[in-house]
Amino acid sequence: MNAPEFSTKMGISMLEKLIDDFQKLFKTKPLIAASAPGRINIIGEHTDYNDGYVLPAAVHLRTYCLLSPRPDGQVNVYSRNFQQLATFSLKGLQPSAEKSWWTYVQGIFWVLLDQQVSLSGADILIHGDVPLEAGLSSSASLEVGLLYGLLKLGKKDWPPEKIARLGQRAENEFVGVRCGLMDQFVAALAKKGSALFLDCETGEYEYIPLRLEKAGLVFLIYDTKVPRQLAGSKYNERRAEAQKAREIMKEHGLPSTKGVTGEKLNKLQGLMDQVLFRRARHVLGENNRVIEAKEALRKDDFIRLGELLFASHYSLRDDYEVSCPELDLFVEAAKNYPGCLGARLVGAGFGGSAIALVKKEAVEGLALTAAQQARKRNYPQPQTLVVSVGSGASAFWL
Ligand code: GLA
Repeated sequence: MNAPEFSTKMGISMLEKLIDDFQKLFKTKPLIAASAPGRINIIGEHTDYNDGYVLPAAVHLRTYCLLSPRPDGQVNVYSRNFQQLATFSLKGLQPSAEKSWWTYVQGIFWVLLDQQVSLSGADILIHGDVPLEAGLSSSASLEVGLLYGLLKLGKKDWPPEKIARLGQRAENEFVGVRCGLMDQFVAALAKKGSALFLDCETGEYEYIPLRLEKAGLVFLIYDTKVPRQLAGSKYNERRAEAQKAREIMKEHGLPSTKGVTGEKLNKLQGLMDQVLFRRARHVLGENNRVIEAKEALRKDDFIRLGELLFASHYSLRDDYEVSCPELDLFVEAAKNYPGCLGARLVGAGFGGSAIALVKKEAVEGLALTAAQQARKRNYPQPQTLVVSVGSGASAFWL
């Protein structure tokens, strides 16, 4: 909970620049600086809302918020990314059908007011370097960063698990996106150099060391630049299908999506229609892969981890049907590229990004090869980025 997160990640000079901007804009000094990271999910996709396992890690890219309180019940929030100032009153804050970037900010105030946190208004400056709409959870990093900032301002020292759940609630109930817990949880609790294993059913978690550096490996992000317009509706459709499949499983004495293997899984095939069966097969298989991936990481067995990443992608593509041709192209290019151990789509899918586990020296070659193949097919020009594993949210007094 101190300044280093700013100083090491974005540089003191950048913090000074933000403070300067804040003062020019709001004619007052910011009192709090807070930040939270975006994430990659190493494995465990579409399992969080199915009471399953996930294994995400924070990236070094973060959303930063500077704040100072106001006495008049008004919130002024400036986004450097959108270069827009939004203003709203805390009185009568209600979810509405109209959505924009500041809806996320309103959602955080709404959820805190609901928790009886006394808030008198605020001036806020936001600067994010998590790419937007790329499947790296910029929204959770904004929600959690803001929660940390406002709670610091209110001198409340709440457990990170509780803060993560409030972020999720704001997104579910105010913004209207029915996401699971993974993104907010890792934004709040991540540790540098570690992946975060979470059992979304029990809330139990553990840190798994990620010794990539020693193995000469990095995670490469490949942003397809395919707009994720369908993501919302298709995401909810998958949730509903998975829910149906789970109800049928329960009726047949299989209440959990975890630890289901072999014969039991096959038995399900006759109990539900084929689409539901494939949705269930993905979730059950993915949960098993997360456990295997966790064990592989403990042993620094990155070859096995890579195989699991490919298997996860194929299951997401064929059984859960949340991939798209642009993501598949990258994963195939990755599969054929020497020095790439594994790759898969990351986040909700339907566009957005893929990750690849790659030897350092192979990064540029893989990025170039995939981009050339994308161009040949007239796909959008992708963007690539090597990420390092960052730490969770923090807030401090300036
Ligand atoms: C989005 C949601 C997460 C999770 C993933 C899919 O990122 O926000 O909660 O469901 O999709 O794994």
